[in-house]
Amino acid sequence: MIGIIASMEEELNYIKESMEDVKIKNINNTDYVIGNLHGKDVVVVRCFTGKVYMALTAQKLIDNFDLDLIINCGVAGGLKDGMHIGDVVLATNAIQSDMDVRGLGYEIGQVPDIEIKDFKQYEKINETAKEFVQNYDFKVYFGNIMTADKFVSSKEDKEYLIEQFDGYCTDMETASLGEVCYVNKINFAGIRGISDSADEGANTDFRENLKKASDNCAILLCDIIKAM
Ligand code: ADE
Repeated sequence: MIGIIASMEEELNYIKESMEDVKIKNINNTDYVIGNLHGKDVVVVRCFTGKVYMALTAQKLIDNFDLDLIINCGVAGGLKDGMHIGDVVLATNAIQSDMDVRGLGYEIGQVPDIEIKDFKQYEKINETAKEFVQNYDFKVYFGNIMTADKFVSSKEDKEYLIEQFDGYCTDMETASLGEVCYVNKINFAGIRGISDSADEGANTDFRENLKKASDNCAILLCDIIKAM
């Protein structure tokens, strides 16, 4: 079974509308939407915003369902020059940009104890996508997804993520899921639609483009699931 998690309902609407044989299972006040997505058994759950919410929701998902893979989808702030609203980023790695234990000798982004910085994308996702990414009216990028408990909305913060990590986009959950999946030995994938440019206009852009960026991300995700 494949788990799909996003922080906001808007990020999940297209996916839920594409599902068949839908059942809702409520476990300890969390609704899990179970069904068939293009021939695959999936369970969809909303986690709310930030790394802690992602981690706790992902662990509950893992504890209650038999999963081979969990995918985080949704929107993100674009970091690369030339990126447009509605473009989509498939993670190569997801990195926590706010994990900073350099004071104890770790590399920026590196999680102590497990000593990992880059949470790797399940390769089959990107291999599958490469067959048809040119078919869309939006561009698909493959690169690092950055995660922090921060809504990035300044040129200065944006440049830091580009220079320090070669970030392609920034969000508030993906690398947290990467860590949870790593610890639980479950395949992980992150895919994000660009809602804003993580600069001074991000607040307005995010609100205006939430649906378009969410839907483009979900369209690509559904096509990958169909082709996998
Ligand atoms: N999600 C969408 N846009 C974002 C931004 N600019 N920073 C963090 N998370 C985001």
